[in-house]
Amino acid sequence: MTEPRVGLLDEVARYYGQRLAAHGETPGGVDWNGEAGQHLRFAQLARVFDRASGFSVNDLGCGYGALVDFLRAGWADVRYAGFDVSSDMVAAATRRYRADPAARFACAGVPDEIADFGVASGIFNVRQARPDDQWLDYIHATLDALHETSQRGFAFNCLTRYSDADRMRPDLFYADPCALFDRCKQRYARDVALLHDYGLYEFTILVRKTP
Ligand SMILES: C[S@@+](CC[C@H](N)C(=O)[O-])C[C@H]1O[C@@H](n2cnc3c(N)ncnc32)[C@H](O)[C@@H]1O
Repeated sequence: MTEPRVGLLDEVARYYGQRLAAHGETPGGVDWNGEAGQHLRFAQLARVFDRASGFSVNDLGCGYGALVDFLRAGWADVRYAGFDVSSDMVAAATRRYRADPAARFACAGVPDEIADFGVASGIFNVRQARPDDQWLDYIHATLDALHETSQRGFAFNCLTRYSDADRMRPDLFYADPCALFDRCKQRYARDVALLHDYGLYEFTILVRKTP
């Protein structure tokens, strides 16, 4: 990890640690408006899974681990690893899922092992005071890490630059879906899907790799 990325991730960890302290292990604690939106996002990301059972998932930016419940409800025999830069989030998730032998959590800014699939929900949204070019470099570097640590594919979401202008906030980053789609096609895989039709001010990109 480069030095600038370390400083940036410290800021991110502080921000989300404060959210957790204020709102607890709830969607509000990871900066979502509610459970419906959190699950709608999971449902888009999960479209990258190309099988009903027997695979592994790296969840980058796992928060308190809400994706574990979502996975357990829909798929069988999934090995889950959650990574978060906030040690408070990792402590909460570890406590919450201590009885689940196929779930583990680690404090890290990139996955520490290769999985079938990688997912990242909400990690590219809050840039605080970081300028556009720095935040975009960070997104690109993190996508490279997701690519390097996923065998069958990965999926992520971002706020969209097609959001209503009067609702946009300077501390949030609104990405260009077409530019990221193009980057994923050029760098990672031939099969890339851009989902921008699920009613939130964001989009999801699925990168499917040929095994
Ligand atoms: C918006 S929250 C979403 C949490 C979870 N994915 C969910 O949807 O419930 C983003 C989480 O990602 C973590 N995070 C942000 N950037 C990260 C990175 N590069 N690596 C690991 N964790 C990150 C934050 O600390 C925070 O807990």
